[in-house]
Amino acid sequence: MGNDPSGFGTKAVHAGEGGRVPHNPSSTPIYQNSTFFFDDTTSASDIISGKKEGFVYTRSGNPTIKAFEDKMAALEGGQAAVAFASGMAAISAILLEVLGPGDEILSCRRIYGGTIAFYEKVIANINGSVKYFGPYEDIRERIPALVSKKTKLIFFETPSNPELSIVDIALIAGLAKKYGLFSVIDNTFGTPYLQRPLSLGIDCVVHSATKYIGGHGDAIGGVIICSKAFAKKMRTGMLLDLGGCLSPFNAWLFLRGLKTLHLRMDRHCETASELAVFLSKRKNIPSVLYPGLKSHPGHAIAKKQMSGFGGMVSFTLENRRACGRFIDRLKMVRTGVSLGDAETIALNSGTVFYSGLSDAECVKKGVDPVLIRVSTGLEDAGDIIRDIEQALKGV
Ligand SMILES: Cc1ncc(COP(=O)(O)O)c(C=O)c1O
Repeated sequence: MGNDPSGFGTKAVHAGEGGRVPHNPSSTPIYQNSTFFFDDTTSASDIISGKKEGFVYTRSGNPTIKAFEDKMAALEGGQAAVAFASGMAAISAILLEVLGPGDEILSCRRIYGGTIAFYEKVIANINGSVKYFGPYEDIRERIPALVSKKTKLIFFETPSNPELSIVDIALIAGLAKKYGLFSVIDNTFGTPYLQRPLSLGIDCVVHSATKYIGGHGDAIGGVIICSKAFAKKMRTGMLLDLGGCLSPFNAWLFLRGLKTLHLRMDRHCETASELAVFLSKRKNIPSVLYPGLKSHPGHAIAKKQMSGFGGMVSFTLENRRACGRFIDRLKMVRTGVSLGDAETIALNSGTVFYSGLSDAECVKKGVDPVLIRVSTGLEDAGDIIRDIEQALKGV
């Protein structure tokens, strides 16, 4: 594009697309090829050394994937982006790129369980360690108390999966700069439409593109957005070495999904807010967690750093039996592990992943066994709420 689009919706539609593609197609084509032929050995060596622009092998780059990366960089306001095969491929690549043997991570305790599993299984294997801070501790005091010579990176998520806890992004970015730590935020729940952490001083944003970025539950992928220098390091380092590259077809699905991100997020936010208000007025629901509710402990910070409160609502029931009955009574709303799709999805981990653990064992693992996470979909809000209401009547 010759002109620089400034509105979010305009970028969502146009950024990254076009390029110099023959025939002027209205959507970026899928370059479904593994390798790119070189014109001759000189041009091959120029492309490989980075002297000349071009592609070599889809594991390190491809025009469809690049279009997706460029759109993500424009939406997050970053210099560059690198796509991966999944959110976990992206998170693991960042951690392995930045951390050496014996290094330490400072991490918020309230993050996606898969990231914690990676700390425990893989980071521990390279003699790395993790120190945790809670979202509602006094972060200004807690982080300086935890930093040591070994600390290299700070990782957090806001809103977090599944409790929707909120962390002050600018505060973390400032502390990371002060102590020389590389700061990484998982912005899967926030999306670049609702918050842009790079503008608040964060070094690297990561997404499970599988969720709101794709938005249709049909592709797994991940992406990081960061400086040009870090993107280059990742592309020539962990992307190439671990090999967790995105497929061109999934990149195309994400490009298509992103064109409606702003519209979908507006609808998700409206419905989630309506659902949260409905749930908070009902009896027998001990807690409703939605950053848009004034009762939410992170409401003031969410209001400061987000332009909307997101499409996820979590709430608790009195016991696991009630959670199981609620989930099993749902009719239109489905149960499953993903989120951010057109369909409303409800999940209670206590009856699915942790059914073999006692409540006390769940709590020890940092899991609330009676929490139900709802990813509000794009159906009519009234239909979603009616289904949830009828399911609640039976518990
Ligand atoms: C917040 C968050 N980050 C990362 C991931 C991992 O992403 P993926 O499933 O694409 O590997 C998930 C998956 O649910 C998630 O919810």
